[in-house]
Amino acid sequence: MLRTHTCGELTVGNVGEEVKLAGWVSSIRDHGNIIFFDLRDRYGITQVVCNLNALDENLVDVIKKVRQEFVIQISGKVVERSPETVNPKLSTGSIEVVLKELDILNSCQALPFEIQESKKINENIRLKYRYLDLRRQQLKDNIVFRSIFTGRMREFFSSENFVEIETPILTRSTPEGARDFLVPSRLNPGNFYALPQSPQLFKQILMISGFDRYYQIARCFRDEDLRSDRQPEFTQVDIEMSFIEEDDIIDVSERLIKYSIEKSMGLEVKLPFPRITYTEAINRFGTDKPDIRFGMEILDFTEVLQNSGSSTLEEILRSGGTIKGLIIEQGEKVSIKDVDALNEFVKQKGGKGIGWIRFREKEIVSPLKKSLKESVVENLKTIFDIKPGTLLIFLGGQEKWVCETLGEIRLDVGKRLKLIDESVLRFLWVLDFPLFEYNEEERRLECVHHPFTSPKVQDIDILDKEPLKAKSRAYDLVLNGTEIGGGSIRIHQRQLQEKIFSILNMKPDQYNQKFGFLLEALSYGAPPHGGLAFGLDRLIMILRNEDSIRETIAFPKTQKGVCPLSDAPGTVDERQLKDLYIRIDFKPKE
Ligand code: AMO
Repeated sequence: MLRTHTCGELTVGNVGEEVKLAGWVSSIRDHGNIIFFDLRDRYGITQVVCNLNALDENLVDVIKKVRQEFVIQISGKVVERSPETVNPKLSTGSIEVVLKELDILNSCQALPFEIQESKKINENIRLKYRYLDLRRQQLKDNIVFRSIFTGRMREFFSSENFVEIETPILTRSTPEGARDFLVPSRLNPGNFYALPQSPQLFKQILMISGFDRYYQIARCFRDEDLRSDRQPEFTQVDIEMSFIEEDDIIDVSERLIKYSIEKSMGLEVKLPFPRITYTEAINRFGTDKPDIRFGMEILDFTEVLQNSGSSTLEEILRSGGTIKGLIIEQGEKVSIKDVDALNEFVKQKGGKGIGWIRFREKEIVSPLKKSLKESVVENLKTIFDIKPGTLLIFLGGQEKWVCETLGEIRLDVGKRLKLIDESVLRFLWVLDFPLFEYNEEERRLECVHHPFTSPKVQDIDILDKEPLKAKSRAYDLVLNGTEIGGGSIRIHQRQLQEKIFSILNMKPDQYNQKFGFLLEALSYGAPPHGGLAFGLDRLIMILRNEDSIRETIAFPKTQKGVCPLSDAPGTVDERQLKDLYIRIDFKPKE
């Protein structure tokens, strides 16, 4: 071994010992006759003192060659630091190693950026030199935490009798709402594999094979527009179980989350997590992933504002719209400029603008002041217990649009007024989703989850006539306003699965071509089954208080889907294309 200890290990208990350490030189402080190195490895930092007067000339020459991020091996004696030089921030802060020998194991070129400051620099450069970026402690800790966390999850799964099974990466399309990444098959010219958007179909088939409790830490691939919480390849903690109902999956998932967080972070997680329906989530929070770390829920003013005196409001109500809004208690903190910005935002979303009333001690300030009846203002105050200083904003229009727009405003105002407690973890199950939604652009029904999701048993009869009214047996888990997992009870009868495909406007030859293998498997004794998948990267992002999942992935892609380190994706040789019977008809970007 090149070392007797790691750089995070030595304490006063080691004082007097001769040790050997190896690592990177994190910083150098040159005080003339004394030089200090901070020697760093994965485990921490140890201060090394080089007392040049006491060392051999040749060794002094070597010491003077050392630069930042050189890899060195040192040997020396552990001594206690004097009380005024103790560094309480470091686990090794009460000792230092007095250097006796030093070997340079490798040098390092001038750095493209200061490692501990790398988070501040352009992300393309950080990702190009990801190996340097990964030397930063916080990022390294995230990656180590991720490994510990998944280890805890695996512990939980094996204690609950789950079997870990790998499913293919080269496969057929699994529709999860994104575009597929395709891989041409050399052995089958003109044919393509699709990388899995999730292991959905294989895990269902495993249930049909009788593996009643499956899990996998699975790579998934989706060619979609990227955001801070989306990557083209990401990891799911994927679960499927047989002979179960919604509550069983919810119970296992909650205990898995509790176990893994408590064991890896020492935080208490209280069960059960609250549950709300999709309709309630939209009505109260304007989104199917509510952030319940703060209140300021959406309120319905339709009733109070009937016959309000304002022709604008009355017109909205006459045309069948609703009026909903938010009560901002710290209204004084929202300036006229802020309200103007909200107004602009609403206009961008296709609305006419936002209504508002500022409640002062004796009067109100509002663009509607002249028209609003005094009795209506008084009713608002009493019904909603409005205190002076409050700003009420309201929006009229078609209900779903009103809720969704107010939901975005709620989050924005909540963040700006710092109403969100950043130190807590608030989980929430959202249940009873609709089975389908209508895609206006493509003028067709789409699944809210995936097409293998079972409708509620009592809604099977309305599938033909009123498909948009049917609810599904799906559930999503939301943490602090981010969807961290989702799943459902599946369809396990071939006939019902075929019916769903036809409601989605697929002809039998189309669905047989794409999903014939699943349909066939369903007709060989498929047990009732269901499951769920967590987005591991997203979960780790929230647990580590990061604002991008790229901070939890060792080698992530940029927003453009590029890996600046390996320069993927790249062009390929003409010969490789020929082998695949592919010809490119335009000049690709180099
Ligand atoms: P779903 O599509 O909801 O369900 O995905 C499950 C979870 O995966 C995470 N996720 C992502 N994370 C990072 N980047 C992405 N591009 C991305 N897309 C999704 C989210 C999400 O909640 N087969 C079903 C699960 C099931 O029904 O069992 C599925 O994939 O956190």
